[in-house]
Amino acid sequence: MRDDIKEILLSEEEIAEKVKELGTILSNEYRDKNPLVICVLRGAVVFMADLIREMDIPCEMDFMAVSSYGSGTESTGVVKILKDLDTSVQNRHVLVVEDIMDSGLTLSRLVELLRHREAASVKVVTLLNKPERRKVDITPDYSGFTIPDEFVVGYGLDYAEKYRNLPYIGILKPEVYTK
Ligand code: PRP
Ligand code: MN
Ligand code: MG
Repeated sequence: MRDDIKEILLSEEEIAEKVKELGTILSNEYRDKNPLVICVLRGAVVFMADLIREMDIPCEMDFMAVSSYGSGTESTGVVKILKDLDTSVQNRHVLVVEDIMDSGLTLSRLVELLRHREAASVKVVTLLNKPERRKVDITPDYSGFTIPDEFVVGYGLDYAEKYRNLPYIGILKPEVYTK
């Protein structure tokens, strides 16, 4: 697996430090709000698991699965809901957790949907942000790292469903996805 990685972009330690920082900020923001923290499957699962353990406040979690990428490296622009929430978001403070905001299509669709369902508030935290790739006008409320336009994997992020279990975020060698 490691042989397919060109370079480690963010180490385990750098990620852990950032997640802790975000956890502190979000704990202060959501104290006494009992937020519903939503994990966007599957990429956000690793970040979500670490983030909620850095939040020392009562919160609930739920999961949604959407897909815009299929198995390729480019967003198709069509966001399909593969698994919906089990919890009602009406009058709830909702925090959507994502691993990466790229074109922004996934999150803009999700935020729109959650607002339509009358959440009290909807905010987005993304570990990684690639503003260069944005196709819709959306900015994350909280973001860990702004990264260059390279194909990154690990810490939940996949290429063709692989590499999600790498503990760091690495840049994939182009020959892996061009062959
Ligand atoms: C990836 C990533 C984000 C989304 C970002 O998910 O995890 O959810 O794409 O891209 P966008 O800003 O261009 O919409 P993907 O659809 O690959 O599903 P996965 O999380 O199961 O890997
Ligand atoms: Mn995803
Ligand atoms: Mg993916």
